[in-house]
Amino acid sequence: YTTEKPKAPKQVKKEDIGFAFDIDGVLIRGKHPIKEATEALSFLSANKIPFVLLTNGGGVLEADRVAYLNKLLHLEKHPINQNQIIQSHTPLRTLITKHHRVLVVGGPADKSRAVAKHYGFQEVLRPVDIIRANPSICPYHRYTKKEIQEWSIPPNVAKVSVDDSSCNEPIDSIMVFNDPRELFSDIQIIIDLLNSEFGQLGTKRITGKSKPSIPIIFSNDDLYWANDFKLPRLGQGAVRTAIEALYAKTNDGVKLQSTVLGKPFRVSYDYAHHILIDWRHKLQTGDVNTDACLPELNDPPINSPFKNIYMVGDNPRSDIKGGNDYGWNTILVRTGVYRDGDFVVDPSLPKPNFGIADNVQEAVEQALKAND
Ligand code: G3P
Ligand code: MG
Repeated sequence: YTTEKPKAPKQVKKEDIGFAFDIDGVLIRGKHPIKEATEALSFLSANKIPFVLLTNGGGVLEADRVAYLNKLLHLEKHPINQNQIIQSHTPLRTLITKHHRVLVVGGPADKSRAVAKHYGFQEVLRPVDIIRANPSICPYHRYTKKEIQEWSIPPNVAKVSVDDSSCNEPIDSIMVFNDPRELFSDIQIIIDLLNSEFGQLGTKRITGKSKPSIPIIFSNDDLYWANDFKLPRLGQGAVRTAIEALYAKTNDGVKLQSTVLGKPFRVSYDYAHHILIDWRHKLQTGDVNTDACLPELNDPPINSPFKNIYMVGDNPRSDIKGGNDYGWNTILVRTGVYRDGDFVVDPSLPKPNFGIADNVQEAVEQALKAND
């Protein structure tokens, strides 16, 4: 017999643990699956442990990305639901009432427009539309005639003809959805618009250089990402660097003001946090196929039901920095951008606050063990 009060059980209920997984370098590398991902995600789904995918990738519809992953990772039995994914540009869907006529840059030529249309933007332009209407705007572009025909919309529909002022409507904003595939012409058109008179192609503003003429939003800031090449590859962050440098060059050194989404920024973690809470709720009610919630940008959840959330990522500068700053537990895996020894080479690199794991399955095991 003892008078001591019994200790509260340490165990956390499984629905109060949540995971956010990065995709490139954690679940897949280029076109190849990371085999441990199948087991890890199936286990969580089978046990109704909530998780979301939080990626800086994009350029395709959320539903298509999820279908692709389910096939590649053989998740037929426990498929990931489209309500579980946040791509870098997913939060932009909340801006449809503020930006009507948008230039969407980057991503697969045949898919990115459809994504923006699907979100609800009224007029979605692509750089190829502008090139079709004004071929001399980018004299060295690499689009073939066939590609222009397939991927662009006619000038009278796009309303971007510099030679015909009755058919040249100003553009509200530039949204870089994903890594550009035709970088030089994309850069030319972006710089033209940032320095234009109120977003009107073929014009050059004379005053007011402190701000770009129209807003530009970068959906991620990854300097590097991991595909199947042996070294990390330059990403959208490199494109932002180039555009900032050119903007400064063309504006007496003025720094470009822009909005940047994606990891490591809080705005994307807030958004993902809402989606994770929503997914937990959907798992409990069984209503997994109704649309995910649509959180406002920069609006943190007030009451999170989660006791512990784990961000599992391969990139210290995005996944780990963002997770640490947000107050989540962070686990760095060895299957992507990060290599052992990186912290020695660069001691300022953000370190995971929970641990390092060989792969995503080991990361999940470590996290679940800590809650047992
Ligand atoms: O373009 C993809 C990339 O920047 C990173 O994707 O899944 O590692 O956040 P992810
Ligand atoms: Mg990654």
